[in-house]
Amino acid sequence: MTNRYAVILAAGQGTRMKSKLYKVLHPVCGKPMVQHVSDALNQVGFDETVIVVGHGAEAVKAQLGEEFHYVLQAEQLGTGHAVLQADELLKDKKGITVVLAGDTPLLTGETIDALIAEHQAKQAKITVLTALAEDPTGYGRVIRGANGLVERVVEHKDATAEEQKVREINTSTYCFDNELLFQALKQVGNENAQGEYYLPDVIEILQKQGEVIAAYQSPTFSETFGVNDRVALSEAESIMKKRINERWMRAGVTMIDPAQTYISSEATIGQDTVIYPGASIQGTSVIGSECVIGANSEIRNSVIADFVEVKQSVIHDSKVESRVTIGPFAHIRPGSALGEDVRIGNFVEVKKSSLAKGSKAAHLSYVGDAEVGQNVNLGCGTITVNYDGENKYKTTIADGAFIGSNSNLVAPVHIGENALVAAGSTITEDVPHQALSIARARQVNKENYKKSN
Ligand code: UD1
Ligand code: CA
Repeated sequence: MTNRYAVILAAGQGTRMKSKLYKVLHPVCGKPMVQHVSDALNQVGFDETVIVVGHGAEAVKAQLGEEFHYVLQAEQLGTGHAVLQADELLKDKKGITVVLAGDTPLLTGETIDALIAEHQAKQAKITVLTALAEDPTGYGRVIRGANGLVERVVEHKDATAEEQKVREINTSTYCFDNELLFQALKQVGNENAQGEYYLPDVIEILQKQGEVIAAYQSPTFSETFGVNDRVALSEAESIMKKRINERWMRAGVTMIDPAQTYISSEATIGQDTVIYPGASIQGTSVIGSECVIGANSEIRNSVIADFVEVKQSVIHDSKVESRVTIGPFAHIRPGSALGEDVRIGNFVEVKKSSLAKGSKAAHLSYVGDAEVGQNVNLGCGTITVNYDGENKYKTTIADGAFIGSNSNLVAPVHIGENALVAAGSTITEDVPHQALSIARARQVNKENYKKSN
């Protein structure tokens, strides 16, 4: 087996993004571009992967983790110079090296596999992944000789008018013979329009030495798409979104309008779940089977079991069991857990609270820092008064309790099992189990108060 190495170029600031965030960390469908690239590499499998970092080095390392080698390119003098930073780590190794740019998030493991297969079949020293672009503006053009073989790549800014007409572009993904790559890199100069050391210049250098240069043309241009600005970022997002949505639809998820359905790369969705337009399923959310996710709902990093119905609501970092119904217009904030058959109705906010099986907060409530047992009914307008301006306190409500409408439960406070709180109460002391607690001013009727004239 040939040893396989990979190098991801991720040192550029990405000036064209006009952003404080380093280019390769911009997310596409919720996942940073460079993470997409490294995930595609993982699918293929490499002996060693080197990440060239510069701008935002620490942030890129924090994103990708410890299993890679990192080399610092302190000054960004070009893609050739970037690869040269891996010289010490790689130059003496026998094998092949796949180089990719951190800004091509749509590239798949299958295409990298096909590139390597072509490289080996042709016994080439370099195989360039190329693509046919509708509009090749800005890309390096692949210049082929009379025999159809690749001779060199010329950057857009260095190309003649004739060369600019070429639609076959360099995707910035290559497979190299490792030792020849590092030998040739040392001969690359920077006499060009951008004054940079260009990685694709090694093609011309090795071609002139009589080495075999091959090309593998990607079946689709979209997969090789390089993101340099926000317009391209939005295009990448829409291509990735389509890819993700089609995958889930093929797996049995119904989308009323996939063009307006936003699912992160990391989320999973069960069979026969129906998703309405505008829904956004973010982060590592897991949605079960036969759920209905209503229009404009936002679910982030949450685990939703089966048969759950969410109508126009927001759920963040929470756990929702089977057959729960939520909304419309509910807000389930981080750290919440809703047991089976729980019902959260309109204009209810739940924060860092648990409601056990069968409990209901059907209308206009705030449930914060509360532990609610089974089959509890929180009447319309129930408020847990959890904050005194300095500290937060807990409310506990035992199984079967019934809280009348428009009650305040001033925490810390405990409501006992099967207790009843009369509507309009402001509860400041614990209520024993099975007790009825009435904590409001008694009604006084003043007869004939208003004189008739
Ligand atoms: C590059 C290619 C071009 C190709 C295009 C495809 C060169 C000279 N040109 O151009 O032929 O068509 O990609 O998308 O390679 N980087 C570094 N250090 C540097 C410079 C760049 O790490 O000194 C990294 C960037 O972070 C980026 C990648 O290399 O991830 C590509 O650099 P970029 O400046 O975007 O190259 P392009 O101009 O797009
Ligand atoms: Ca680029």
